[in-house]
Amino acid sequence: MKKALIPIVLGLFAESVLAAPMAGEMAAQSCAACHGTQGKLSAESYPELAAMPKQQFIQAMSDFKSGKRASTLMSRVVEGFTAEEIAEMADYFAAQKLD
Ligand code: HEC
Repeated sequence: MKKALIPIVLGLFAESVLAAPMAGEMAAQSCAACHGTQGKLSAESYPELAAMPKQQFIQAMSDFKSGKRASTLMSRVVEGFTAEEIAEMADYFAAQKLD
């Protein structure tokens, strides 16, 4: 089920290049199943993304992509995103407040 959703979400991306802030939000939603809505979740095995500094987020994502940081789940997730989309998601999550 989750796997089937990924191409749909990516398809929406392609149509919304002009609506960049929206893209960040949509991407965030494809992470919600594991990381919680708006990156807020208090399950120990899934780190919270909300309020994560932009550079730290981008570093983590590129480490998953290059294989420098091993993660069965995240290395698959990150494959579907370009550096630009990752930067947009970084902005999105950095803007979320932990309350
Ligand atoms: C299938 C579940 C799953 C999905 C979907 C998922 N993640 Fe993750 N994510 C994880 C797990 C598990 C970890 C912890 C991995 C580790 O540290 O080895 C993680 C770790 C991360 C980290 C590193 C956090 C830190 O504290 O260093 C980032 C950043 C991240 N995910 C971003 C995302 C983004 C962005 C998406 C959506 C595009 C996403 N994840 C979707 C399971 C998931």
